[in-house]
Amino acid sequence: MPLVDLRNVFRSFRRPDGSSVWAVNDVSLTVEQGQTTALIGESGSGKSTLGRLVLGLLPPDSGTVSFEGVNIAGLPRPEMRRLRARLGVVFQEPYESLNPRLTVGAIVEEPLIIHRPALTRAERRARVDQALREVDLDPQVADRYPQAMSGGQQQRVGIARALILEPSLVVLDEPTSSLDLSVRAQILELFGRLRAKHGLTYLFISHDITTVEYFSDQVIVLYLGRVVERGPTPEVLARPRHPYTQALLSARLSVDPTVSPPHFPMTGDPPSPTAFIPGCPLVGRCPLEVSECSKAPVPLHAVGVGHEVACIRA
Ligand SMILES: Nc1ncnc2c1ncn2[C@@H]1O[C@H](COP(=O)(O)OP(=O)(O)O)[C@@H](O)[C@H]1O
Ligand code: SF4
Ligand SMILES: [Mg+2]
Repeated sequence: MPLVDLRNVFRSFRRPDGSSVWAVNDVSLTVEQGQTTALIGESGSGKSTLGRLVLGLLPPDSGTVSFEGVNIAGLPRPEMRRLRARLGVVFQEPYESLNPRLTVGAIVEEPLIIHRPALTRAERRARVDQALREVDLDPQVADRYPQAMSGGQQQRVGIARALILEPSLVVLDEPTSSLDLSVRAQILELFGRLRAKHGLTYLFISHDITTVEYFSDQVIVLYLGRVVERGPTPEVLARPRHPYTQALLSARLSVDPTVSPPHFPMTGDPPSPTAFIPGCPLVGRCPLEVSECSKAPVPLHAVGVGHEVACIRA
């Protein structure tokens, strides 16, 4: 059984002018226990909304979000609380996600106070010390405030907090994109180490293909709230079949000078997120487009083992 299972999930947002944005449009996906599943796509493609749906922070308009086979919609309060304790999240902006009025120790301790009421103060303190050491921080930083720390250290505090309850699944929402390049590599190495040590399952949201290649087992490509391609990471990155994935990959520089990445530039701008799109969302931008593309929704179909593409010409 997959750890997370989304079936036909839709989620829209209403804009101030009354129009609706389909942030997530009929998405079905699974996240397997112990694996790292990457979500990639341009800004506005629905990655963060999917992350919040998986965490139960946002209800779907329709469709189901299940964790270990149980639909999380309408879970009674005590069960929802227990579930929350098994889910962690690390955000893009460490500073914005840390309460500036609390010390680092209080920030990391807070989930224990909420979810582990039987622990004594001394036991909580010991766990906070251990969590800080795990993210390579000196436990003495517990008395400091996050604003007195560097971006990389703040992100380590965010990670300690996300892991203090020993969650099963951690959503990483662009966790390194606000950090300097040198710090990024260290934080990624830390995520890798914590994954191996605790058997963590990650939903890893990123727009950095190089990181996704190094870090994930499965990749899901989103465009305008829809899954356009998915499969094992090495397979999808070596043999992208959807024109949109090919365009995303062509923007990256190949590390191997003997391999030139497929050059497949996308033309034009994406349609308005509020527009109704009857067929493939790439219509108007796709170099392979034919008249059938705009007639009806294009479902995913298999093109390899576990590799699926939503394109009638793939
Ligand atoms: N709370 C919200 N209110 C209105 N629109 C939203 C809200 N959250 C997301 N959206 C819209 O939903 C779409 C997807 O957003 P998001 O999930 O943040 O994408 P990504 O994380 O891939 O950049 C965008 O068009 C965005 O403007
Ligand atoms: S379905 Fe048509 S428009 Fe969509 S990606 Fe394939 S060829 Fe392009
Ligand atoms: Mg986002």
